[in-house]
Amino acid sequence: MTTGRATAAVSEARQWARLMDMATFGAIPGDGVNRACLTAADRAARRKLIGWAAAAGAGVSVDDAANLWLRREGTDAAAAPVLTGSHMDSQPNGGRFDGIYGVIAGLEALAALHDAGITTRRPIELVAWTNEEGGRFAPGCMGSMAWAGYRPLATWDDVTDPDGVRFADALAGHLASEADLPRRQLGGVPHAYVEAHIEQGPRLEAEARDIGVVGGIQGSRWFTVTLAGDTAHAGTTPLALRRDAVQDMLRAIAALNVLMHDPKDVLRFTVGRIVVAPNTSNSVADRASFSIDFRHPDAAVLLARGDAIAGVVQAAVRDCAVSVTESFHALPVEFSPLVIEAVAAAAAAEGLSTLRMPSGAFHDAQFVVPGCPTGMIFVPCHQGISHNPAEYSSPAQLAAGTRVLTRTLVELAA
Ligand code: GLV
Ligand code: MN
Ligand code: MN
Repeated sequence: MTTGRATAAVSEARQWARLMDMATFGAIPGDGVNRACLTAADRAARRKLIGWAAAAGAGVSVDDAANLWLRREGTDAAAAPVLTGSHMDSQPNGGRFDGIYGVIAGLEALAALHDAGITTRRPIELVAWTNEEGGRFAPGCMGSMAWAGYRPLATWDDVTDPDGVRFADALAGHLASEADLPRRQLGGVPHAYVEAHIEQGPRLEAEARDIGVVGGIQGSRWFTVTLAGDTAHAGTTPLALRRDAVQDMLRAIAALNVLMHDPKDVLRFTVGRIVVAPNTSNSVADRASFSIDFRHPDAAVLLARGDAIAGVVQAAVRDCAVSVTESFHALPVEFSPLVIEAVAAAAAAEGLSTLRMPSGAFHDAQFVVPGCPTGMIFVPCHQGISHNPAEYSSPAQLAAGTRVLTRTLVELAA
């Protein structure tokens, strides 16, 4: 009965209005969003969220990784909290829902409980994790990795953004701007974590299902390959005398395409970022670097082919010096039956159809897994489009996901 009252108080209109409000922070043409972590747009969006906390009965704090926390107390202050959340940063050419939906859905769940006058036994905490996307500072999921103790926060101090700003400096400046908020410790032992997110793939829409009950997340590894040659005049330097970083980059990528070939199309291999210097038409490039994003659901494949990357690149390169560094290593995870079944039962109680599915995208939930029972709720997104301004889920689809989230939180917090 309590759960029914809570989900009845979920407001589709309020949630949509808040999402559209958030989309103004970092808005780009075509309904897109460019809200990199720890930027002015990110700070403004966070202030907006902080401003909504009191009306949801939540207190606000921030931790050393700038993860932002909204906590709604339960009747048992000593009980381990139930966590929900996601991220507020976006890709440079991102959409209006990736990440921010899970944060606003969590806020809507808290607001619904508040409006319905319901106090759960356990506290419920909403967290907006820092730098999930890794678009400004690579890799992604720094906030959740630091919180979970997967890596010390200082690991990324010297990572720079494309303008040469150090992560440690951006973080310090950001935390200074939130010095008015109480500071809380990194880490904790929650009772459970559940994250709502748009699917970012085409399956739910294609199979006409309302809710994805997520069973786990495939593994991801990120690498950067850097080639160093010599710059030279494009009109005068014979090819035989060149050490051309772009040509060696092409050799390396071609060899990697062979290594990563998968007739079943399960493996995901992406070169998404290329930096060339001096980057002029009439000079041979003396430096080239490119990113590798490699994913697979099978840890054995992820380890074997990922470990082969450096050797394949070395063998393919002809003229330049080469280095390969790994910046992200997330093995596949399986979610907890406790949360998976709570999500499935919540969807059934709401009369929504479901699909049990894995996640191809990584999420902060991946790093919460060892710490507590964890799961995720997916809602459909149009044609599976994501990391794209055209990303779209309807107000009704998003509200359905939030009703499932609210029910799941109430269940877990009982
Ligand atoms: C998250 O944004 C991912 O790249 O999977
Ligand atoms: Mn996301
Ligand atoms: Mn994303």
